[in-house]
Amino acid sequence: MSVVPADAEGIARAARILRDGGLVAFPTETVYGLGADATNGKAVARIFEAKGRPSFNPLIVHIPDAAAAADFAVVPDHFAALAKAFWPGPLTLVMGRKPASAVSDLVSAGGATLALRVPDAPAAIALLRATARPLAAPSANRSGSISPTRAEHVAASLQDRVDLILDAGPCRVGLESTVLDISGATPAILRPGSVTREQIAAVIGAVVAGADDPNAPKSPGTQLSHYAPSLPLRINASEARAGEAFLGFGPDSATLSLSATGDLREAAANLFAMLRALDDTQRFTGIAVAPIPDRDVGVAINDRLRRAAR
Ligand code: TXA
Ligand code: MG
Repeated sequence: MSVVPADAEGIARAARILRDGGLVAFPTETVYGLGADATNGKAVARIFEAKGRPSFNPLIVHIPDAAAAADFAVVPDHFAALAKAFWPGPLTLVMGRKPASAVSDLVSAGGATLALRVPDAPAAIALLRATARPLAAPSANRSGSISPTRAEHVAASLQDRVDLILDAGPCRVGLESTVLDISGATPAILRPGSVTREQIAAVIGAVVAGADDPNAPKSPGTQLSHYAPSLPLRINASEARAGEAFLGFGPDSATLSLSATGDLREAAANLFAMLRALDDTQRFTGIAVAPIPDRDVGVAINDRLRRAAR
């Protein structure tokens, strides 16, 4: 495994590896992805192996622009408005799989739907264009651990299980994309992210089911234990108990603060790197996290914290 800058040379090398069936970790605006050619079943199988991911958990396919979606999915009514409003960007759309799609069945775990996303990161788009293949890419971490927002996190988690890591520094958003299922009658959020339910509802002018709606469909991935640091995590804490680190939000003193000014987007961008940093020092017996307002991207932050705490 080697780590190289996501410049023209690095991207050309990464594209060769991907076209030969290898695995490349690359930056997106959300988290680093572990990419493989989505049309190559053997390469896709390597993703599941490298992550230790159960094969029933489907992968997101990354494409360079909205026009490419119709090559792989049956695009429903709401697609055009959503793609226009949010792509490129941190919204993944789950749609019906196109029957004659070139994408490997493994990607959708044998199911009838396919998740597509156009990432909003120049290096990712350059890589998609250079490779000229759709790229299946889950977060570039071992299954069950925290998603990587820096190249160093990928290297520490996957080591030699990945052929090349493209480094473009820290990810701007820092939380995985919102996953929205538009394959059925009612659009449903399967995983909250920085594109909110309110923003989506405003664009499509229709009811959107939330991830916590008991009747809404569920994503296989969200059923699994996830995003877990190795130290126990206590959420909605007003202060640290003996031995705990305090991960703050707002002006109060803390071991680390997600955002001293109480900015939710800054908190989202810092969340995974700060959880890792506190988890990695040998100084603490647990991590206590301040309450995060449950609005805007705070909904997604609280979703990740609840999973990490359980
Ligand atoms: O921001 C992101 O989405 C990042 C970057 C790399 O794009 N990717 C990512 O992938 O977070 P992953 O595999 O860690 O999470 C994908 C989630 C999982 O919960 C999976 O179950 C769900 O999306 N998913 C993928 N395809 C699906 C499908 N066809 N139907 C329902 N859920 C699907
Ligand atoms: Mg993941």
